[in-house]
Amino acid sequence: MKKKINNEDIIIASHNEGKVSEIKDLLKNYDLKILSSSDLGIDEPEENGSSFEENALIKASTTSMLSKTVSISDDSGLCVNALDGEPGIYSARWAGPKKDFLYAANKIQESLLKIEAIDYSAYFICVLAVSWPDGDYRIYKGRVDGTLSFPPRGKNGFGYDPIFIPLGHESTFGEMDPQFKHSISHRNHAFKLFSKELLIEG
Ligand code: IMP
Repeated sequence: MKKKINNEDIIIASHNEGKVSEIKDLLKNYDLKILSSSDLGIDEPEENGSSFEENALIKASTTSMLSKTVSISDDSGLCVNALDGEPGIYSARWAGPKKDFLYAANKIQESLLKIEAIDYSAYFICVLAVSWPDGDYRIYKGRVDGTLSFPPRGKNGFGYDPIFIPLGHESTFGEMDPQFKHSISHRNHAFKLFSKELLIEG
């Protein structure tokens, strides 16, 4: 059993300000000094893994080795069942260099129409890697299932939120109050597992 992480530094292996602030918010009740790899001037390694797990671990382990501090990283994306899990680990890349998620949503809709899909089910996944400088690591996964809906609806959130309706709801993530979305999100599920096992509420 790994020692609990309490009253110590922890590095978020990301240069994405939105992601860093969402993670800081998820960890606000714990006695941790949270920094990001940008704060330490550590470059983000290339995400060249072939799974969410590999990509999350590449980022967390490289950062923990360079900073000699426990580091965390999450890798997330949208998987569409009728498209064999695409865009999956390429979720960010489907939006192109301009990070245009209306374009990415269109691409998903066109791909589904092309194969005359009846199944519009999809899920968001978040894989969180926690890595220690001695090479030890843990992986936690969160998932939220739902249905895709076109055209996109709602101005809240980011990425694919306007086309995703979580199971048991009628609004898209993009139409939901952000705090409510966070409370049922894939990222929240993964961070709950992590905090239950390794953190002590302060
Ligand atoms: P990452 O930074 O490599 O984890 O990229 C994740 C990509 O997946 C993001 O750019 C979004 O396109 C998508 N994504 C992950 N989580 C969410 C979410 O909660 N809502 C909408 N899109 C998401």
